Amino acid sequence: MINLAILISGRGSNMEAILKSVKKNKMLVNPAVVISNKPDAKGIKLAQKLGVQTHVIESRGIKGANWDYDKKIVAVLEKSGVTPKNGLVCLAGFMRILSPEFIRYFKGRIMNIHPAILPSFPGLHSQRQAVEYGVKYSGCTVHFVDEGVDTGPIIIQDIVKVNDNDTEETLSKRILRKEHQIYPTAIRLFCEGKIMVKGRKTVRV
Ligand code: GAR
Repeated sequence: MINLAILISGRGSNMEAILKSVKKNKMLVNPAVVISNKPDAKGIKLAQKLGVQTHVIESRGIKGANWDYDKKIVAVLEKSGVTPKNGLVCLAGFMRILSPEFIRYFKGRIMNIHPAILPSFPGLHSQRQAVEYGVKYSGCTVHFVDEGVDTGPIIIQDIVKVNDNDTEETLSKRILRKEHQIYPTAIRLFCEGKIMVKGRKTVRV
């Protein structure tokens, strides 16, 4: 059984979708812990309501990738049974860059959701970038995390049509609905051993 950790910074709607899907679909995964870098993240209470252990590891004043900060995350993960052997770490709106040391430690076991069709619009404010650029389709991507920003092997993508009158808010809402579908699916595939990374690609096995 895979032990799952979800890292958040705010609202936690992807975390909620994942936890609800784990329960509903009896997924082969144990939601071990939710970690937030912000003490006021709405998702913390939501996780507690859903019966999952929570931890706040405050990151105020710690800018950029920082292994000393990430070591505190590793300590909580290990205590919760989330290890490089049996763990999966899912970033769900976790607005920090992880250090290369952390990424190497959990190599192949960290996923992220991004609100755009990567490699388009990486980084911040992807939905605004999509509206301003004038693309006709956008969407979301679940990918494994490597040492770049939003560059790791893609697991699942889904698209939404961008309308002429879309704003950052309206597009974000439609993309979010898709995010809530593809993230649980990616986790299920991983936990059932149905995907593996081959070079730059994630392939079905
Ligand atoms: C989601 O839209 C997620 O894709 C995005 O933050 C939001 C978090 O919402 N992540 C990024 O932009 C990462 N670069 P949530 O807290 O309700 O899941």
